[in-house]
Amino acid sequence: MSQNLAVVGVQWGDEGKGKIVDILSEHFDCVARYQGGHNAGHTVNVGNRRHVLHLIPSGIFQPRVQCVIGSGVVLDPLALIEESQAIEKMMGVSVEGRLWVSNRCHLILPYHRVLEAAIEKQLGERRIGTTSRGIGPAYEDKMGRRGLRVCDLLDPETLGEKIRALVIEKNRTLEALKYPQTIDPESIVDSYARYGEGIRRFVVDTSAYLNEIIRNGKKVLFEGAQGTLLDVDLGTFPFVTSSSAAAGGVASGLGISPKHIHRVMGVTKAYTTRVGSGPFPTESLGREGDQIRDRGNEFGSTTGRPRRCGWFDGPAARYATLVNALDSMAIMKVDVLDTFAEIPFCIDYKYKGSVLKDFPADAAILGNVEPVYKNLRGWQTSSVGIQEWSALPAAAQDYLKFASDYLGVPISMVSTGPARHETIHI
Ligand code: GDP
Ligand code: IMO
Ligand code: MG
Repeated sequence: MSQNLAVVGVQWGDEGKGKIVDILSEHFDCVARYQGGHNAGHTVNVGNRRHVLHLIPSGIFQPRVQCVIGSGVVLDPLALIEESQAIEKMMGVSVEGRLWVSNRCHLILPYHRVLEAAIEKQLGERRIGTTSRGIGPAYEDKMGRRGLRVCDLLDPETLGEKIRALVIEKNRTLEALKYPQTIDPESIVDSYARYGEGIRRFVVDTSAYLNEIIRNGKKVLFEGAQGTLLDVDLGTFPFVTSSSAAAGGVASGLGISPKHIHRVMGVTKAYTTRVGSGPFPTESLGREGDQIRDRGNEFGSTTGRPRRCGWFDGPAARYATLVNALDSMAIMKVDVLDTFAEIPFCIDYKYKGSVLKDFPADAAILGNVEPVYKNLRGWQTSSVGIQEWSALPAAAQDYLKFASDYLGVPISMVSTGPARHETIHI
């Protein structure tokens, strides 16, 4: 029987999903993205070259693997054209015949970025700190049932008319927001008609495609973007992205039955990071947070922003374990903790003097919980590049076992560096 696997972020994104999906994709026939857009930045190291993928699935560097961008993704067609060309140049072969984009993907248009800038500006201190890629407004148009899709892009006869009608609405909104910029529909009509031709070679009904290959016994890896705590339903709302990043998004985002998801693997750092605003109970604002950022090179893969850094957040990861029903997990960037004598591990949240049983829904509560830490022994020796569990320092083994026992999830991979080979397979 085929065994399809979902790989999801356990935290607030950037856990190292790109590295894990690249490694695992060797054992799959297809890798499919089910949500998000080019807000994602998935780093894959091939040889001594580092690639950051935004839209294209992280299986693309395995020449035998088919890659799918499903209907749950919001697509900026120019971003896809540029990324596919960059990969073709780097690999020296075309990705045509190996990269498939759903004809049902909703499109990101230039006005989505402008609207996002206007809304973030208006929010001021309360802004989300988005990646400015137009993701939220594009999903708003989808849910509002007025968005344009890839199938619209491929019909040049009617595209202009549809874009012009939408731009009138968008300019009204910008005016109401008193934003000093309006949108010119004609430049969009011209460029999007060209982009349609540029991506036509990739477009199919990816739901039909996936259902057929699954029926034929092929194995599919579902690649999550962002992380569970950024999921629009389950995350730290409103400081979330606008899609279903957790495992629940796989079926609706790809047009397959949930029956075809056989296992779920979570990817988590050995500590925690977050980019953008929102509550982060275990954030370390002092010297130790800076040390994690320096050692872990914690700067956004998409925007270059410094990531906020802190200790492992047990209650948040336990919540992610629950909602995804994780079968196993990959713990990343253990090497980043090499220098600490003691490593705090948050085991509970206290709020108004009592320990919280459930992960709070209200961001205001999460922002005011007091983390309860257990201090674990550091190892203060290099774990960089270790490939065997037995070669890990004893204190690092204890730290990882503690996390696994705490979450009740077995560890299947441990990562000790960005390269493919700097990995322990368990
Ligand atoms: P993703 O969005 O989940 O794919 O993660 P990102 O690519 O945004 O961020 C993870 C970063 O950590 C990338 O720069 C990786 O190259 C790097 N990385 C992954 N695993 C390890 C590791 O075990 N150790 C170190 N030091 N870096 C790692
Ligand atoms: P990967 O797939 C980390 C964050 C943004 C912001 C919030 C909303 O690389 O893990 P958006 O532009 O999506 O509307 O921004 O979500 N965010 C991410 N943080 N990793 C990502 O993707 C992210 N994608 C979005 O920083 O806080
Ligand atoms: Mg990333």
